[in-house]
Parts: sequence; C-alpha cells; structure tokens
Amino acid sequence: MRPTPGWLGDLAGRRVLEVGCGAASTARWLATQGALPVAFDLSAGMLRHAAEAADRTGVRVPLVQADALALPFADRSFDLACTAFGAIPFVDDSAALLAEVNRVLRPGGRWVFSVTHPMRWIFLDDPGEGGLTAVHSYFDRSPYVEQGESGVATYVEQHRTLGDRIRELVGVGFRLLDLVEPEWPEGHEGIWGQWSPLRGRLFPGTAIFVTEKPAE
Ligand SMILES: C[S@@+](CC[C@H](N)C(=O)[O-])C[C@H]1O[C@@H](n2cnc3c(N)ncnc32)[C@H](O)[C@@H]1O
Repeated sequence: MRPTPGWLGDLAGRRVLEVGCGAASTARWLATQGALPVAFDLSAGMLRHAAEAADRTGVRVPLVQADALALPFADRSFDLACTAFGAIPFVDDSAALLAEVNRVLRPGGRWVFSVTHPMRWIFLDDPGEGGLTAVHSYFDRSPYVEQGESGVATYVEQHRTLGDRIRELVGVGFRLLDLVEPEWPEGHEGIWGQWSPLRGRLFPGTAIFVTEKPAE
C-alpha cells in the first residue's frame, strides 16, 4: 500500500527520507508529488533494483546504501521519514533505529511507517484455513530465523507487540498521532502470499504508525 498524503502531511518541497527502501517505489512516488526524497537500504542488491526502476520510469531519486542503525545523515536534516515494511522488523534493537530516525528529523517532522500487524505473528503465513488457527504466542519475542545449509542465518524477522512498538516510539521522543489498521478492501478477492480475503476480513494484516517529533 502506498502512503497517502493525509498521513504524510504536506509533501511539496519537503525533504523526505525513505527508510529500508527496497526498490524505492515509495521514494519515486514521493518525487512525483513534488517532495525531495532520499532513499536508503542496507542491501546493494535492492538498490540495484531501485536503479533499474529509475532507468525504466525516468523518475530518479538519490539512493544511499546505509544501515538504519547508523544513518549517514546530519541531525535534523529531514522534514519527514517513512517506510513501507522496511528495516524495522529486521533489526534486533528497533529502539536504536527509532532514535536514529528521530535524530535526523527536524522538530515537528513526521515519522510514518508500516509493519506487518503484530497479531499476525500468532498465525502461520497461510492465506487459507490453516492461517486461522493460533499457533504462536503473541507474547513470544523470539525471532523467526531461516538458516542456510551451513547454519548461517539467511532471514531473521523480529516480533514486537503493539505495546512494545508504542513504548519504543514514546521512549525515544515521538508522539503517536494515529495507528491505522487498514481493512480488507470490499470486493477485492485477490490472494498474494499470506494475504487473502478469508483472513483479511477477520483481522488486520498491516499496522501503520503515524508519529511526530514534537516541535520545540
Ligand atoms: C520487506 S522489504 C520492504 C522494501 C520497501 N520498503 C518496499 O516497500 O518495497 C524490507 C527492506 O528493508 C531492508 N533492510 C533490512 N534491514 C535494514 C537495515 N538495518 N537498514 C536498512 N535497510 C534494511 C531490506 O534490505 C529490504 O529492502
């Protein structure tokens, strides 16, 4: 889902940081809205996809390879930061990530991000009936880990409860303006990965946090 201007506030002329941008589709959309985005990701492979998409679409945004836990940007250098599912679930110390985003935002700037809704942790990633039975504890913060043959972790996803996320946001100084839980769109019958109308009509798939660094 693309962010909407309502959540992001005014965009024209705003310096926007896209966190964990992947192929940077959000940053290119922001550029078409008159914003001045900078997109970063840890993965050189994802940034190559972003560069290819820029060539294909003709919409170019600055791309930076960086870790969300150590941002190579000056204090207060952005008016807005956002991400659609980027970086946050993939770092152990998400409070440190939030502190970095807070540092590079100007006072009064917004931080808007989406994550898979924490209650999905309870269920298997199955779009059918098998994804309707609770199999994991909502309160178990052990990460989900996939390993390669050598035993090296190839994918790690962290779980935090809604309360954990809000506590971390408030702890580093953000104010929560809204917590959006989009509902399954009427008439949409598509199935994609774990997403399906069967599950989507029963419980949320995404949590969107709309937050602000208070003005001084
Ligand atoms: C699920 S993808 C979402 C990508 C993009 N936001 C989108 O809407 O398609 C998560 C992205 O977070 C990036 N990521 C994971 N850990 C990161 C970190 N510590 N710093 C920056 N990016 C990170 C991954 O490389 C990946 O591109």
